[in-house]
Parts: sequence; structure tokens; C-alpha cells
Amino acid sequence: MIVSVTSLKGGVGKSTLSQNLAVCFAHMGYNVALVDTDTNASSVHWSGLREEDVPAITVMGLTDSNALRKNIQKIHDNYDLIIIDGTPSISKLVSTILVLGDLVLIPIRPSGFDIWATEKFIEHYDQAKTLKDNVQAYFVLNEYNPQANLNKEIKDALGELEIPALEATIRHRVAYGEASVMGLGVYEYKDAKAKEEMTQLTNEVLSILQKL
Ligand SMILES: Nc1ncnc2c1ncn2[C@@H]1O[C@H](COP(=O)(O)OP(=O)(O)OP(=O)(O)O)[C@@H](O)[C@H]1O
Ligand SMILES: [Mg+2]
Repeated sequence: MIVSVTSLKGGVGKSTLSQNLAVCFAHMGYNVALVDTDTNASSVHWSGLREEDVPAITVMGLTDSNALRKNIQKIHDNYDLIIIDGTPSISKLVSTILVLGDLVLIPIRPSGFDIWATEKFIEHYDQAKTLKDNVQAYFVLNEYNPQANLNKEIKDALGELEIPALEATIRHRVAYGEASVMGLGVYEYKDAKAKEEMTQLTNEVLSILQKL
């Protein structure tokens, strides 16, 4: 199974979500590979900080569209789950990432909600759907605050689009940044609420994958 985490916007939480999903699935006993497609190599760097006393996750960087496709094909049977950490550039690479994913997750930050990037993204998504029958995609609300009216409006606006949002949302928590600089996921860190929300999100993703 391949989960692609992508969007056309930078800094929305692609790498954070990719790393944390990889960690949760690794703790559930899955053999996980994380493929970093961004030239900033933040997930590759993260893996270098990861110690030996936590479940192993194979991390590799592939920033070229053809190389990504070919290498994913080669490693596909060796892993239970491959997570692709996307790049924000509007390029062939984004289309390849979309087509490769059995499931596509699109993090968005309600505070920086950008309908243009979202509409552009949907164009890419529609194009990907012409190349592959079934591209299942979900928005993931990152730094979501249910108390803020603006956030509720964005949830409603998203409801009008063809791509649904996951039930599970991610709040703004310092634990995400702190865990990341230690090569960890929040599942392995001291913030119980962060661990709980990421576990819920992982379970939701798992139940979607099981129905594919
Ligand atoms: N829920 C959150 N709470 C607090 N900080 C967060 C949260 N999500 C992401 N961040 C922080 O925001 C920054 C950007 O997140 P991240 O690197 O995951 O985004 P990205 O989409 O991968 O960015 P890029 O497009 O540059 O690759 C990071 O410093 C990360 O630690
Ligand atoms: Mg990133």
C-alpha cells in the first residue's frame, strides 16, 4: 500500500504528517518505508536523528519523477506500507506522487487556507484520475482549532469540494516540532494529547486502507 502526502502549498505539514504516520504504523508492527521527494530533504534529515531504540523506518530521498516511480516499483513488495512525503512544487513530480498513491492525504492549514492552491491541486487530482481509475484523496486539517469560527467555515467550504476531509484533525502543538528535531513522532513523545490525536488519525487511515 502507498500513502501519498502531498499538496501544492509549502509548510502545511506534509513532512510532519508523513513522519508521524510512519511512526504510528511502525509501532503497530508494519514494515514502513518513508520516501522524501522534497529537495529540502527534511524527512531524510529526520531519519538521521532517529535513534536505535525506536522502531526502524527506512527513509530514502527521491526527487526525480522517473526515479521515484521506478524505485517505488522495486521496493513495493518489501514493505507493508510506503509513505511518500510530497513536495510543494507544481511539477510532474506532484502528478507522479498522486498517481502512485493508493491513498492521497492533503494537509491544509485553516489559518493559511488558500483556495487558489486548493483549486490548482484539484486540477492535478482530476488529471491523475484520468490516468488511474480510483484515486482516493482526503484533506487533513492541520493546526485545526474547532473553537475558531474561521476554521469551521473552512471545514464547510471543503465540504463543497469533491475531496472529503478526514474526521481526525491535528491541533497546533509544540510537541510536533519538538519530536521532529529528535527524530521522533509524537507517538514516541511526552504529549499524551498529540499521541492520542495522531493515533486516531492513523486508525482512520488504516480503516480507509483496509477498504481499498
Ligand atoms: N500541528 C502542528 N503543530 C505545531 N507545529 C507544526 C504542526 N504541523 C507542522 N508544524 C511545524 O510547521 C513547520 C512546517 O511543517 P512541515 O515541514 O511538516 O510542512 P511541509 O508541508 O512538509 O513543508 P515543506 O513544503 O516546506 O516541505 C515545521 O516546523 C513543523 O514542525
Ligand atoms: Mg516537507
